[in-house]
Amino acid sequence: TTEAKLDLVKKHIKLSKISFSTNICPILKDPGALTAVIDLFEEHVRQTHHQVELIAGLDARGFLFGPLLAQRLGVGFVLIRKKGKLPGRTVSVPYTLEYGQAEVEMQEDAVAPGQKVLLIDDLLATGGTLSAACELLRKNKAELLGCVVVIEMKDLHGSERIKPATVFSLIQY
Ligand code: PRP
Ligand code: MG
Repeated sequence: TTEAKLDLVKKHIKLSKISFSTNICPILKDPGALTAVIDLFEEHVRQTHHQVELIAGLDARGFLFGPLLAQRLGVGFVLIRKKGKLPGRTVSVPYTLEYGQAEVEMQEDAVAPGQKVLLIDDLLATGGTLSAACELLRKNKAELLGCVVVIEMKDLHGSERIKPATVFSLIQY
């Protein structure tokens, strides 16, 4: 059931001692927990965003879950990378980290205008990363359906920062 799957995922996050830099490694190490994560995301997307055409994942930990979900849904996966990693023509958006600045980047032709895209990452903390990714998708004329993350740190109010985009999280702290 959905409840049992959520409990399994929560147990792995508790085991890994939650911190700002959340440890998702125990989930990946347990095939049952990883399947539960993808099952729960799939259930959400089929109910809420059944029209999804593309999953866009964030470098680096969004890459661990994104392709699995995309394959499950039978849609493509595109990479939003930290600057300087992608070949060809790219579009980028700067954002602020705890320490200094970074940029997210995607290939210019990664998304077709109007394509319905869902963003995925492991964690929503301050929302700096996801809000930059939302802006990047807007720049590329995608239709952003929403964001999904494994963990949301509620105290940091990241969901406010990514508005009007919405976020679905499996675990909230
Ligand atoms: C971490 C995490 C999220 C982001 C969340 O990524 O994976 O992407 O921080 O924080 P925010 O909401 O405050 O932006 P990070 O860039 O630290 O490392 P990674 O390359 O391992 O994903
Ligand atoms: Mg990250």
